[in-house]
Amino acid sequence: KNRFLASLAALDDTVPLPHRTQDRRLPELPAPTDGFANTPDTDPAVAANRDWGRAILDRVPGSTAGTATVAAAALQTEEQLDRVIDAALAAGRGWAALTGAQRAEVLHRAGEALAARRAELLEVAAAEAGKTLDQADPEISEAIDFAHYYAERARELDEVDGATFLPSRLTVVTPPWNFPVAIPAGSALAALAAGSPVVFKPAGPTKRCGAVVAEAIWEALDASGIPRDVLALVDLEERALGRQLISHPSVDRLILTGAYETAELFRSFRSDLPLLAETSGKNALVVTPSADFDLAAKDVAYSAFGHAGQKCSAASLVILVGSVAKSKRFRNQLVDAVSSLTVDYPTNPAAQMGPLTEPAEGKLLQALTTLEDGQSWLIEPQQLDDTGKLWSPGVRTGVQRGSEFHLVEYFGPVLGVMTAETLEEAVAIQNEVDYGLTGGLHSLDPEEIGYWLEHVQAGNVYVNRGITGAIVQRQPFGGWKKSAVGPGTKAGGPSYLMGLGEWEPAPLRG
Ligand code: ALA
Repeated sequence: KNRFLASLAALDDTVPLPHRTQDRRLPELPAPTDGFANTPDTDPAVAANRDWGRAILDRVPGSTAGTATVAAAALQTEEQLDRVIDAALAAGRGWAALTGAQRAEVLHRAGEALAARRAELLEVAAAEAGKTLDQADPEISEAIDFAHYYAERARELDEVDGATFLPSRLTVVTPPWNFPVAIPAGSALAALAAGSPVVFKPAGPTKRCGAVVAEAIWEALDASGIPRDVLALVDLEERALGRQLISHPSVDRLILTGAYETAELFRSFRSDLPLLAETSGKNALVVTPSADFDLAAKDVAYSAFGHAGQKCSAASLVILVGSVAKSKRFRNQLVDAVSSLTVDYPTNPAAQMGPLTEPAEGKLLQALTTLEDGQSWLIEPQQLDDTGKLWSPGVRTGVQRGSEFHLVEYFGPVLGVMTAETLEEAVAIQNEVDYGLTGGLHSLDPEEIGYWLEHVQAGNVYVNRGITGAIVQRQPFGGWKKSAVGPGTKAGGPSYLMGLGEWEPAPLRG
């Protein structure tokens, strides 16, 4: 069994564990000079934290968190949507008139309100999205990080001589269901930090997660005496209403995280739509003969199968260079790492890989059940119950350059193994996909690392680390090629807010 994949629940209570602290949270890290520090995740090595986690999981089957807020957000008619937009625009005038420093105070309060809801967010992420605690907990830390980080960036908007930052008049936020807490929180908080009111439409499968995020932000607005209308939560069942929202002339920014096809669909509703979109990925991790194989196998397995592969950042391909392709040791490590994963619903505390959020269908179902010519299963995925959601992880070998599996995003628990004679060929294979979201290299050779960093076409590149789980400020996250649409600013990075408004007059360049 792979010793690296101990999850929160796999830790056995009967084994004495190092007691770093009795608190649920680690002690605060010292604040860096700009006042921002990443929020620590819950430490599963602390027995009290595991008890806390199990109590949350016990509440998942009966969870109703966010339900009333979702019901209140449901809109049926065009008139209702118009009223919500008008109220957001009206509240937005006062919000935009505040200084960045004043908005920063509200953002910091929102970060505290999200932190106070960590247990509720874990519960609702497990209930709606099937997220295991070890996947959802860092996501909640990330949401809290976004609040405090964008708060500090908002202050910077006050500091430019001779130029004024004019926020978007209205920002629409349409997040995905796979990060149902961090992405909506980050998108909405960024727009608010920049001074724009927000209309937030959560993804269909994860409305309650969105509602709890909105409740946290409203609490911060209430405490600051700001009208709640600056953040409107809407639930639009009617596609016509979605189209009305996106096409509305007052919307001058839409933050989308989702499939590239969704960005195209939105553009078909309105051709001049100012999109800031992070879209699809088809991401590969390259392993060279100089790599630490233990680490590489662990990182491949985690990157491919964390949250059942349902991350735009997930590893869908591993490219084995030179002798690694024939290495029994690497192959055994990978098979051990993947086949020892415990697959179950998150209510089982031992689950390391949870269910799909929605039943497998279409191209994902095909990728889980069908091989292309010349491919074979190293580990064949199995459907574990009749919901269509619970699948064991799959690994296929013999994936050829230019094949469908090389180029198509599937968004599920299936990994393809490719081989390359040289690192140059591996990079060419990586760059042949239309997308450029994440990429990884496992190598201990500085020349290989230098070559790869110079040539790989991906917005987020990682060396000797998994390729999911970007961290606010340390690893700003955004795509390249067909993985991004819009100004190209990265979430959780220093220039993200700049993509949410304009300078008047433009500051001199050069
Ligand atoms: N920001 C998410 C990650 O890095 C998508 O995994």
